[in-house]
Amino acid sequence: MRKKIGVLTGGGDTSALNATLKGIALKAEELGFELVGFMEGWRGVLKGGRYFTLTPDLIDENHGGTILKSSRTNLIASNKLDEAIENLKKLNISGLIPIGGDDTLTVGTALSEQFTTVFVTKTIDNDVGMNPPAGDSVDYSKMVNYFCPGFPSAASRVINAVRDLRTTTYSHDRVIIVEAMGRDAGWLTLSAAYGLADLIVVPEVPYQPDRLAEAIKEKHTEQGNVIAVVSEGIRNDAGELMITSQAELDAFGHTKPGGCSEIIVEAMKTRLPEISSSAFRALILGYMQRCGSPIELDRDTAINAGALAVRSLADGMVNGVATITRTDAGIEPIMLPIEQVLKRDETGHVIRRSLDPRFYDAERYHLSPEGAGYFRPLFGDLPRRRRNPEERGIEIGEIV
Ligand code: F6P
Repeated sequence: MRKKIGVLTGGGDTSALNATLKGIALKAEELGFELVGFMEGWRGVLKGGRYFTLTPDLIDENHGGTILKSSRTNLIASNKLDEAIENLKKLNISGLIPIGGDDTLTVGTALSEQFTTVFVTKTIDNDVGMNPPAGDSVDYSKMVNYFCPGFPSAASRVINAVRDLRTTTYSHDRVIIVEAMGRDAGWLTLSAAYGLADLIVVPEVPYQPDRLAEAIKEKHTEQGNVIAVVSEGIRNDAGELMITSQAELDAFGHTKPGGCSEIIVEAMKTRLPEISSSAFRALILGYMQRCGSPIELDRDTAINAGALAVRSLADGMVNGVATITRTDAGIEPIMLPIEQVLKRDETGHVIRRSLDPRFYDAERYHLSPEGAGYFRPLFGDLPRRRRNPEERGIEIGEIV
């Protein structure tokens, strides 16, 4: 009988999940394993959970989302770890590969104490891993999990959206507050610098409406229009999330962020009466950041990470994580023991990686040179904004 291994995808989907699954399926086939795909995250290994034999031909690595579907099922909160292990054993699964972000890995690490498990990370939030060691210079090669598969594609969607918005922002002299996902981490928001965002507001720095109003005013005076990109997870002075609706909690007890751009627009209209209130717009990018096809770098890295996880299972590694590293040769996956990848709090929950403070210039609301160094292997050099006729010194007549 062929050895059976299992795989599942948990948490929010990304564009690169099918690519990771493809890498896993190809390597499993090569090594003679039968691969069982459990559907809808951790729900798939519980009573009533659904599964099927996952072969490479079923998976299109260029298609976003996950063929296995996903959920935010929390086996710890519902006390269902033992049931999951029993079911995996009943199906003769000898090792499991959960693909997920902090929540999925929190469950996975608890499960891994009793069941052979290796992990592959994914999340558009880019908040699983460790920043480079603190200090004056940034050693990018020491960053643990340089990026989470799924992040580069989501960042590229943010970049394209903001770049496209620049045209209408110019034509109609708008002040647009764009809201990006990422929960408490500002990575995705910061990537908007490559879409030529004027101002970037991340959750790692407390939101100060008066300061932001000043910065918007300055940009508006300079160029007649402004695009500010804000993280959904920014907090007010009291440390509270800025949400428009009633606070909603997910299965892991996190308050769901959303709607801060609308609150900011109202706050800016009051503080900036000199700008016509009809110029302001809020735009929530929402699922447009997570959907659709992966970019090439993300897809290929995800495939390689998936394949490496299977290889390490075959080699007998347990509790390893396929992470991404940056070397002189480029971006590649390596397996690391879980303790080197994740820090956990006293409840066992994975602590999310915040934006490295060196990557963000809080004074200028923008990417710092170190931040540009981080993004360079993903998106190259920072593009330049097209200058307005006034900025180019073109003489503009006025009918009197
Ligand atoms: O964690 C990924 C993520 O996309 C966050 O950036 C966002 O806050 C959240 O998921 C949205 O989740 P949902 O799909 O439940 O709306």
